[in-house]
Amino acid sequence: MTFQHFFAPCPRGLESVLVTELEQLGASGVQARDGGVQFQGDWCICYRTNLQSRIASRVLWQVASQPYTGEADIYKTAHALPWNKWFVPTLTIRVNVAAIKCPLRSLDFITLKIKDAVCDKFRETTGHRPSVDTTQPDIRIHGFLDAQKFTLYLDTSGDALFKRGLRKTAGQAPLRENLAAGILYLAGWQPGIPLLDPMCGSGTFLLEAAQMTLNIAPGSGRSFAFEKLKKFDHVLWQKLKEEAVAQEKPRTPQPIFGSDLYGDALADAHVNLSAAGFSKVIELKQANVLEISAPAPTGILVTNPPYGVRIGEQQQLTELYPKLGDALKKRFSGWKAYILTADPMLPKLVRLTASRRTPLFNGALECRLLEYKMVAGGMRKVRPAAAKQQLDQTSPDSQNQDTSVR
Ligand SMILES: C[S@@+](CC[C@H](N)C(=O)[O-])C[C@H]1O[C@@H](n2cnc3c(N)ncnc32)[C@H](O)[C@@H]1O
Repeated sequence: MTFQHFFAPCPRGLESVLVTELEQLGASGVQARDGGVQFQGDWCICYRTNLQSRIASRVLWQVASQPYTGEADIYKTAHALPWNKWFVPTLTIRVNVAAIKCPLRSLDFITLKIKDAVCDKFRETTGHRPSVDTTQPDIRIHGFLDAQKFTLYLDTSGDALFKRGLRKTAGQAPLRENLAAGILYLAGWQPGIPLLDPMCGSGTFLLEAAQMTLNIAPGSGRSFAFEKLKKFDHVLWQKLKEEAVAQEKPRTPQPIFGSDLYGDALADAHVNLSAAGFSKVIELKQANVLEISAPAPTGILVTNPPYGVRIGEQQQLTELYPKLGDALKKRFSGWKAYILTADPMLPKLVRLTASRRTPLFNGALECRLLEYKMVAGGMRKVRPAAAKQQLDQTSPDSQNQDTSVR
């Protein structure tokens, strides 16, 4: 068995849950890095991770890692690789470059150098070169530079893995699917535990929870870039897909509940759940989070309320947050609530004491996942005057005092 080196990027803050997931999928040498996890394994692990990972954004196959001092070294490293052994020049390519502390001046120029090296090598070995397609390439090549080292990857995923192909319509501020799945893991939610998203929008948390409950592999309905590589093992891939389908459970009603105040948001959730075949699995209703009652004596509430950056007005939110805290306190004792927010006002105005605050990123947007244990009479309530004082003191620096659970 030949072991290959891979890197799986993920939303920042979810590296620890991705480590656990990759270990469960059978990867070895699993190590968290900032923004992703490196691991080793054979092609079976690579295919399985693409098919089964709920947290990874992509699976990148490392094809080179070399020290560099200038652009010429980058060209040389990329040119030395046997590209023609991996894919045919009739496929289109796209090169992406990212860097941290790279002393070179232009990432665009480095991108061009890598593209030239790949095309020159193909022309020398086959007489043909691949064309560039920046929108829907067959093959994506990723370069990463730190201060001393240049690493080159071939992307085995193609479209990002959070594009499950399930969400047909997405409303105004949808969560990335892998962030929603990671939050369910961080919340300790497990199939069978009652789950409610009372501000469900297009239903991302609900879709992820249903797939987990029914053992549906998140990649079972889509294709991957590795299927276009010369070394693609069709028999192995069919076997993995058939094994995954055999593990699926019947689509029976589950204690997974979603609601939203607005009919158009709920219509999006209905479209998405029914397209996924989950209409009978999840209960949806139109309701105000401030009036809704708990659908079970205990359970996990997970939600991302509207916030000022994208939707909602500041004034409305300063009125909503304290009422949300009161509603949770009154009607959800015995539940644990997880609120994802990018709004620094929310933790102050909700007037509940968070037992955990986890920094997470929704794309480039820095958020906090706040955990509230709703024990009857046990939540310390900050007086309105104190809440206002805390709000006035809110500064970006105060966010840095949060502790991570990682
Ligand atoms: C940031 S979005 C949630 C997005 C969702 N997580 C998704 O992935 O599509 C916030 C949602 O809260 C809903 N909302 C706002 N005020 C509400 C209220 N008082 N009760 C219930 N839902 C509300 C909005 O309609 C919106 O769909």
